[in-house]
Amino acid sequence: MSKKLNDKMNVYLANQEVMYIKLHNLHWYVKGKSFFTLHAKFEELYDQAAEILDEVAERLLSLGESPIASFKKALSATAVKELDDVPVSSVDAVKILLKDVEYWIKDTKEIADLADDEGDKVTSDMFNGYLKEYQKLDWMLKSYVE
Ligand SMILES: [Fe+2]
Repeated sequence: MSKKLNDKMNVYLANQEVMYIKLHNLHWYVKGKSFFTLHAKFEELYDQAAEILDEVAERLLSLGESPIASFKKALSATAVKELDDVPVSSVDAVKILLKDVEYWIKDTKEIADLADDEGDKVTSDMFNGYLKEYQKLDWMLKSYVE
């Protein structure tokens, strides 16, 4: 694995680690008529983030690399903007998440392509799987805010 791919996968991991808490923030602080729907959806998404971060960390370990495993390191590496501990309307919550999801799509594609270029089909398959989920989520979130 190239240093570039290792670095990008570790930042991806850091992003998922921080998103895990950010999705809890939305799960707890979302307000409005869609509370029950979004509260449940955000729970589904933080569970998905937990699965993905574990898979990415274990893929890095399988390839002899060292995954970021502390919030201290994750916070210094992440591109994710955290939220304050304040109520957020349903529409704003979805709009906030949409920005993250659009970033995930771009970043996931870049990693899948890079792994492909390096002949690492297993890693590119993993990330293409995440890409499929994120593209579907993007469509659903956009449908909500329209
Ligand atoms: Fe909960």
